[in-house]
Amino acid sequence: MPDSKRLEPVANLRPNPIKILVNGHETWCYPGETVATALLSTGIRGFRRSVLGTLRAPVCNMGVCYECLVTINGLETQRSCMTLVSPGMVVEVADAT
Ligand code: FES
Repeated sequence: MPDSKRLEPVANLRPNPIKILVNGHETWCYPGETVATALLSTGIRGFRRSVLGTLRAPVCNMGVCYECLVTINGLETQRSCMTLVSPGMVVEVADAT
């Protein structure tokens, strides 16, 4: 049996996707994912800017380094690696390109 067939049942267990807004753009992700995971999976690497203006992105993914800070539902400096996505969530990042 090809490997792709072996993975199929696992893929079917995924919950229905939900939609969040990232810098005003609709982005699909899955319940149970963190905001950081959702952003990284869409190719976003510029989560915040340092005091020197350089773009920063998650380093630890466990709430320690604070490199993943974003604005979530109007609240600034939220750790995206510690926040689960929810439908309709509004996320602002430094650079969504
Ligand atoms: S990636 Fe380190 S605190 Fe979020």
